[in-house]
Amino acid sequence: MTQRKILVTSALPYANGSIHLGHMVEHIQTDIWVRFQKLRGHQCHYCCADDTHGTPIMLAAEKQNLTPEALIEKVHAEHLADFTGFYIGYDNYYSTHSPENKQLSEQIYLALKANGKIESRTIEQLFDPEKQMFLPDRFVKGECPKCHAKDQYGDNCEVCGTTYSPTELINPYSAVSGAAPVLKESEHFFFKLGECADYLKEWTSGSTTLIDGRIQQHLQPEALNKMKEWLHPDENGEGGLSDWDISRDAPYFGFEIPGAPGKYFYVWLDAPVGYMASFKNLCSRIGLDYDEYFKAGSQTEMYHFIGKDILYFHALFWPAMLEFSGHRAPTGVFAHGFLTVDGQKMSKSRGTFITARSYLDGSLNPEWMRYYIAAKLNSRIEDIDLNLNDFIARVNSDLVGKYVNIAARAAGFIAKRFEGRLKNVAGSELLAKLAAQSETIAADYETREYAKALREIMALADIVNEYVDANKPWELAKQEGQSERLHQVCSELINAFAMLTAYLAPVLPQTAQNAAKFLNLDNLTWANTRETLSENHTINPYQHLMQRVEQKQVDDLIEANKQSIQTASAEAAPAAESSQYTPVAEQASFDDFMKIDMRVAKVLNCQAVEGSTKLLKFDLDFGFEQRVIFSGIAASYPNPAELNGRMVIAVANFAPRKMAKFGVSEGMILSAAAADGKLKLLDVDAGAQPGDKVG
Ligand code: 2FM
Ligand code: ZN
Repeated sequence: MTQRKILVTSALPYANGSIHLGHMVEHIQTDIWVRFQKLRGHQCHYCCADDTHGTPIMLAAEKQNLTPEALIEKVHAEHLADFTGFYIGYDNYYSTHSPENKQLSEQIYLALKANGKIESRTIEQLFDPEKQMFLPDRFVKGECPKCHAKDQYGDNCEVCGTTYSPTELINPYSAVSGAAPVLKESEHFFFKLGECADYLKEWTSGSTTLIDGRIQQHLQPEALNKMKEWLHPDENGEGGLSDWDISRDAPYFGFEIPGAPGKYFYVWLDAPVGYMASFKNLCSRIGLDYDEYFKAGSQTEMYHFIGKDILYFHALFWPAMLEFSGHRAPTGVFAHGFLTVDGQKMSKSRGTFITARSYLDGSLNPEWMRYYIAAKLNSRIEDIDLNLNDFIARVNSDLVGKYVNIAARAAGFIAKRFEGRLKNVAGSELLAKLAAQSETIAADYETREYAKALREIMALADIVNEYVDANKPWELAKQEGQSERLHQVCSELINAFAMLTAYLAPVLPQTAQNAAKFLNLDNLTWANTRETLSENHTINPYQHLMQRVEQKQVDDLIEANKQSIQTASAEAAPAAESSQYTPVAEQASFDDFMKIDMRVAKVLNCQAVEGSTKLLKFDLDFGFEQRVIFSGIAASYPNPAELNGRMVIAVANFAPRKMAKFGVSEGMILSAAAADGKLKLLDVDAGAQPGDKVG
């Protein structure tokens, strides 16, 4: 076999937010791939780092009364602990605020400059006169010029979706100080990406022939389509490549640009260079040849696993930066989609913005999540859904019910009846079936078709379990003269378990390690997926390898994440969900809220209202008295009588209201309005009584 030399990265997490399951999807996807390559005997190095520079980090540190250096050091320790908790096996988890990164960023910049690819231009930008700093787009807010929604960010409106420049906002204000920004001129440096168009057209649609002869496309087909949009202007001249502003003015947390005092590299310039820096640091620690990996024309492979939102940086800026500074370009950029939970965007208020820390602190087994995510992943740029019920069912059924169980069912007999020794089962038909899939499943891992790989592995586990049921070792153990057969069957089962363990090892590294101890194997390699253990190989006593997921653990996890939003600092919160919240009313105080007297009420009778298509008439028991309330929810509840007997939540202290010709309404029943306009009455847990106060 030709040994490949591979460098692999995951996107560098920002050093001002917690690691959540969204990050984990990517790092698990990468880690599985790296572990697979290592099991196959290749030289594979997995490098990552914290992305530490930029205005948000500078301001976050200031808010926490820390220097940026102290903040990024604290966060680095937290991030590494979170990732390690999920068994992400980096060879180096470094920082972009490192001497290697400073030196490499400068070197790349100077090489681009020497190649005529950098030019300086004076531009006008919004400036915060109070804070004395230029404002990044996300730090300017104001009224959308199109739909007039208030408090929109400087780059796009979250209400109507229009994109604009911050100078177009109506009544702009600085999100840092609240002051009205002013326009100010400043000199900026641009990377002339427009001049790299021919190279990028070739690279994006191109491929590399690997040393094992396979062809690796640089981009996935969906990514390539996106590139075509970005690389080719349409008939109106829209689209196409613009030059890229790579400098920022002081105050900025980052690296100062050589020869340009007060000017700093924009965080997105030194972030991908952070991949090189992390690797360079690794090379000096373990004695690898850095240049062999990064020189132009390198025969080594380099892959970046990223989210679909940062494709532009990795498929355009990054290869161009590398190429025009005299380095090799990536062999492949592998983008994945976003994670949704129960079919919806992760939400802090629903408790589905699940942090890695809350998962680990809740004593949920990280391998459950690794397995579930892997079972959803493929090579395409598709969003993947964590369905919490399916998570419990799938892990319990596949890992505990099908896989671990095999060892549990055979180990006792081998220990008690055969002194832990296995028979030679090299000719077993059952094992031949398992071994036959070795290269198919390897190809699935190689091409990141993990869902397919795991389906195939579980199909093999099904075959093994059918074999257990057909041969019933527990009955053989009781029968006279069946000792040989019992030994044969149980040895086959232990071998089958060893093969399945090797197949699952990239996904379940800790269980594989524990299983290897039980199997008395020093280390597992991919060869264990197709080779049987030798005659008289002795196994160790079996200890249970994996617990079932309990519903309560998942419920508690969601609850813990709901609670954490009350304590989390606004700065630490990733921007993902804040962008979802568009207030539907002005800010209310606690006192405002306390003015509303909400009560539990029981529906005594609910009926349609003659002459109205909208209203339903409710006779309600409030405990202290009975009242009539009209509610405009007829369209959502076509069979009103079905509501009789249930509890609702109603406002009890509204002044009675005359409803045209229908009568007087003595309050308001609460319901939730879905995006499609359907209304759903609010529910209350069993045990609540009419008249109970809600709040
Ligand atoms: O989008 C992000 O979270 C960035 N911190 C990713 C950087 S990846 C690389 F280019 F450094
Ligand atoms: Zn708008």
